[in-house]
Amino acid sequence: MDIRRLEPRDIPLIQHANLENLPENYFMKYYLYHALSWPQLSYVAVDVSRPKKTPYDYPKIVGYVLAKMEEEPTDGVQHGHITSLSVMRTHRRLGIAEKLMRQSQLAMVETFGAQYVSLHVRVSNKAAIHLYTKTLGFDQDKTESSYYADGEDAYSMRLDLSTIREQIRDAADAEGVDEGEPVGEAGSKTLPVREKDLKKVKVGRGLGVQALVEKDESKHS
Ligand code: ACO
Repeated sequence: MDIRRLEPRDIPLIQHANLENLPENYFMKYYLYHALSWPQLSYVAVDVSRPKKTPYDYPKIVGYVLAKMEEEPTDGVQHGHITSLSVMRTHRRLGIAEKLMRQSQLAMVETFGAQYVSLHVRVSNKAAIHLYTKTLGFDQDKTESSYYADGEDAYSMRLDLSTIREQIRDAADAEGVDEGEPVGEAGSKTLPVREKDLKKVKVGRGLGVQALVEKDESKHS
């Protein structure tokens, strides 16, 4: 099994998986919007056990997670959101959903500095609730009444991502320590820097905010 980022060419297959597995379905452009706006956050699980017979064979996608960053968070806190997750029946209970979720959560922190991730799930969806609360550690935030089109309530859930932030920091610190031994004569010397060799350089063009705001031409006509 290969877990990799969702690419635009995967979208018809993702849409197919979504139609098979969930009653919440989306237009093709909504998938594309995710793939183009937050390409780091959505992943697919590809079954690579069956070799391709021709170069034109589609990849066999058996699971996906479609995720995004909340564009206008009401609480003002930068956070991610899981729009949709599913795994084909033939490939369930193999840990695929957990891997897809963890990959997306890591990317939310690494790429966008997300503080937490949120999602909605049907109150009757026992498998998904187990995955979110028991396996991944999501907290049940509140119940949203008649959230779904058929009138079912949703649990609104969230997971604090500070543990992932710490793991990333620890890994970076560990890398900093393990720089290895200096190599050769140059490596063992600290070369002196002479004040007269240092040059001051200007960085950027000193643009103010005004220069970046689009002009409203209609006011001048
Ligand atoms: N009943 C109870 N627990 C289950 C079930 C089940 N039917 N299926 C999986 N689990 C548990 C596993 O035992 C595992 O628990 P553990 O960590 O304690 O061992 C945990 O959930 C994770 O299992 P995975 O193998 O990673 O999950 P899987 O790949 O089977 O996918 C999923 C789970 C996505 C819920 C799958 O059943 C599915 O596609 N269902 C239909 C679509 C769906 O409901 N998607 C979620 C909607 S909510 C949203 O999209 C934001």
